[in-house]
Amino acid sequence: MTHAVEIRDLHKSFGDLEVLKGIDFTVDEGQVVCVIGPSGSGKSTLLRCVNLLEVPTKGSVSVGGVELTDPDVDIDAARRRLGMVFQSFNLFPHMSALENVMLAQRRVLKRGRAEAERIARENLEKVGVAAKCDTFPPQLSGGQQQRVAIARALAMDPALMLFDEPTSALDPELVGDVLSVMRDLARDGMTMLVVTHEMSFAREVADRVVFMDGGVIVEEGPPDQVIGNPQHARTRTFLKRVLDPTHAQDDAGVADDTPAAPPPVH
Ligand SMILES: Nc1ncnc2c1ncn2[C@@H]1O[C@H](COP(=O)(O)OP(=O)(O)O)[C@@H](O)[C@H]1O
Ligand SMILES: [Mg+2]
Repeated sequence: MTHAVEIRDLHKSFGDLEVLKGIDFTVDEGQVVCVIGPSGSGKSTLLRCVNLLEVPTKGSVSVGGVELTDPDVDIDAARRRLGMVFQSFNLFPHMSALENVMLAQRRVLKRGRAEAERIARENLEKVGVAAKCDTFPPQLSGGQQQRVAIARALAMDPALMLFDEPTSALDPELVGDVLSVMRDLARDGMTMLVVTHEMSFAREVADRVVFMDGGVIVEEGPPDQVIGNPQHARTRTFLKRVLDPTHAQDDAGVADDTPAAPPPVH
């Protein structure tokens, strides 16, 4: 059977620093897998290897049965099947929300203006910002900008959506809107690989949770197991810091409730 994503013995080094030390896992079609773990554990590098923003040092990554790490693969064609949403929204400030969602459809998929506009409007409606089509990103809240960024990715008809801490840069009161869009996508059957610190989201939406630390997968399984009843001390220590604000103060890199604290850096 073909997995939507299949990662085998994935290694990635930057010079002498080995950041990924042999990662193996799969995501099946329609599944949501949440990746959790401390800052610096290699979560972003893993996602960047899945869409080949980073070239793995060793191992293989396949998406929809196409091996992206095969030197003969048409990387642009393969990457077109992936939607990526980052912590920073990366919208063009001088283009309206609608134009931002149309741009790659026109340039990469060569869609005509009318078709690109129709699909852009559909997706902006889907993420709840249809009223903001003509607004420019600097006039949108962070939550609205992130939803436009999600619409932009969806407009490309991705087979897989990758999210790298999509709510980490948002004010706390805006996080819920973005998570609710992601929850709807999951319900609609989108295959998703999500790096997040939002444990209640992971618990509710993920089919599987992968806990990474130090470039390896320490444990993985259903959320009730990994978050609800972790088997490894490293997982328990991490969860304690993320879930219990009184412990969060012990570790400046982990999200907490203190309003004055800077957002977590990843
Ligand atoms: N382009 C790069 N060059 C050198 N080191 C990097 C690069 N990207 C990431 N790293 C290092 O790899 C480690 C893991 O980073 P990252 O994947 O961003 O972790 P996470 O997303 O879990 O916080 C960190 O030590 C980071 O400094
Ligand atoms: Mg990261």
